[in-house]
Amino acid sequence: MKHNQNPLSIRSHKGVRPQFGAKVYVDPTAIVIGDVQIGENSSVWPYAIIRGDMHRIRIGERTSIQDGSVLHITHASDFNPAGHPLIIGDDVTIGHSVNLHGCTVGNRILIGIGSTILDGAVVEDEVVVGAGTLVPPGKRLESGFLYVGSPCKQARPLKDSERAFFKYSATNYVKLKDTHIAELEALQK
Ligand SMILES: CC(C)(COP(=O)(O)OP(=O)(O)OC[C@H]1O[C@@H](n2cnc3c(N)ncnc32)[C@H](O)[C@@H]1OP(=O)(O)O)[C@@H](O)C(=O)NCCC(=O)NCCS
Repeated sequence: MKHNQNPLSIRSHKGVRPQFGAKVYVDPTAIVIGDVQIGENSSVWPYAIIRGDMHRIRIGERTSIQDGSVLHITHASDFNPAGHPLIIGDDVTIGHSVNLHGCTVGNRILIGIGSTILDGAVVEDEVVVGAGTLVPPGKRLESGFLYVGSPCKQARPLKDSERAFFKYSATNYVKLKDTHIAELEALQK
């Protein structure tokens, strides 16, 4: 990853190093550790932390992990025999200061600013999680709906404009990260 030359911000844990698809952007202030795989054209914004030290984290393509978000897992133990990996699909917009912990997030999803999603929760494809929402452990959010609140409740079906926004937002972030990569590479010349 030519634009991120900080050896401490992207680092291995127990011999497992993060892996990146083509044209992934990891801001030099973000931290990515261990068993993490990030798909093509995804982006990790300033001060985000992705810590795959005791279980795996998988992130799909064109997904943005925005500023200050924290992504972690739960390790396997007598309390959680399989543990909880963190799995995120394609075209997901993860807003600022989001906590994702050991959950599964599908494709074409908006996770609003400041939300928290806990172990074993599943967010099906095409869901909006409103800003400041808490998704409890093991909860399943049904495809096609808006969820808000703490703990979250199903608020209403999504509008067509909200469904169209998933792809728009993902594409917008792909373009935006390309401009950030270009700026960083120019600085490093
Ligand atoms: C959830 C959201 C999509 C709803 O927007 P909206 O269409 O204007 O909301 P609605 O008109 O359907 O609101 C329905 C009700 O939910 C409430 N509400 C809206 N957002 C809420 C939220 N995040 N948490 C709790 N309640 C919320 C509204 O006040 C309204 O309450 P009322 O009926 O008592 O007046 C929007 O508020 C939101 O949180 N967007 C996320 C933005 C974001 O974080 N983007 C990421 C940028 S990187």
